[in-house]
Amino acid sequence: MTETPLPLLRSVADLRQQVAAWRAGGARVALVPTMGALHAGHASLVAKALEHAERVVVSVFVNPTQFGPHEDFEAYPRQEAADVRAAADAGAHAVYAPDTRAMYPDGFATSVTVAGLSDGLCGPWRPGHFEGVATVVAKLLNQAQADVAIFGEKDYQQLAIIRRLARDLDIPTEIIGAPLVRDADGVALSSRNTRLDPPSAPSPRPCRGFSRSASVAFRRARRLPKCWRMDGRRCTRPVSIRSIISICATPKRWRRCHASTGRAACLRSRGWATCGCSTTCRLAFLKSA
Ligand code: PAJ
Repeated sequence: MTETPLPLLRSVADLRQQVAAWRAGGARVALVPTMGALHAGHASLVAKALEHAERVVVSVFVNPTQFGPHEDFEAYPRQEAADVRAAADAGAHAVYAPDTRAMYPDGFATSVTVAGLSDGLCGPWRPGHFEGVATVVAKLLNQAQADVAIFGEKDYQQLAIIRRLARDLDIPTEIIGAPLVRDADGVALSSRNTRLDPPSAPSPRPCRGFSRSASVAFRRARRLPKCWRMDGRRCTRPVSIRSIISICATPKRWRRCHASTGRAACLRSRGWATCGCSTTCRLAFLKSA
C-alpha cells in the first residue's frame, strides 16, 4: 500500500468510523467538500474549519452530475497525490476520496432540487448544475455527519443553495461560509485556472467593456428598492449587493458573457451585461465562477 501523509478514506464506512473515533476523543469535526486540484482558496477553507473544529476532513470528488454535457468533466484537473499533500499542508487530518461508483451505484435515482435559489444568476446558463451540486453535497453531509462544513463565498449562489438544503432537509451540520481568495491580479483562485492559463495567455483581468457593462448593471441593481417580491414572499433583509455579482457564460456562448447582480437574500438576477469580446471574458468567467 502506498504511504500517504494523511489517512485516505475511500468508503462511507471508513469515513464514518474515522469521524466517530475523533468524536469519541472529544473532537469537533469539520468537512471541507472539494473537487480537488487544491489551491490556496481551498486551504483557506481548511484554516476556517480549524477555527470551528479540532479535526478536519477534506473530501475530493469530481462530481459528474454537476457538469453539463458540453462542460469540462473529462478535462477537469485530477491530482490525488498532490491533493493529499496539499490537504496535509493546510492542516487537515484526513482526505475522503470516494470513487464514482461508490457515490452513484447502479440504480441511483434521487436528486435534490432547491427551487428558487437555483433559478437565477448562473442557473439558466448551466441547466442541471445546481441539482448536481445539491445532490452530491446532501450526500457528503450525510456521509460525514460532521459538526460543521465550510464552503466558499466565491460560489455565492452555491453557498446559498447549500444553506437552504441543509435547513430544509434537517441536516444537523452547521454550514459556514468563508471569504473568497484572489490572486495578485485580483482574479479568484480556481482549480480550472491551471487548465486555462497557457504561459502566453493575456492578462486574466476581465476586459474593459465587460467590466464597464457589469458595473452599469451593478449600479442599476443598487437603485432597486430594498424589498421586492419573490415567490409571493417579500424579501426584507437588507443585504450587500457587493457580495453577489456573478459572471456566467457557457462554452458555446463565450461571446455572450453575462453578469448578474441580485440581492443575496433572493438570488434573483436584477441586471445583466453583455459585451462582444470573447477571450478575456472567458477567462473572467472561468476564473470567477
Ligand atoms: P470546488 O470548485 O473544488 O470548490 C470547493 C470549495 O472551495 C467551494 O466551497 C468553493 O466555493 C471553495 N473555493 C474555491 N475557490 C475558492 C477561492 N478562490 N476562495 C475561497 N473559496 C474557494 O465547489 C465545488 O468544488 C463543488 O461544487 C462542491 C461543493 C465540492 C460539490 O461538488
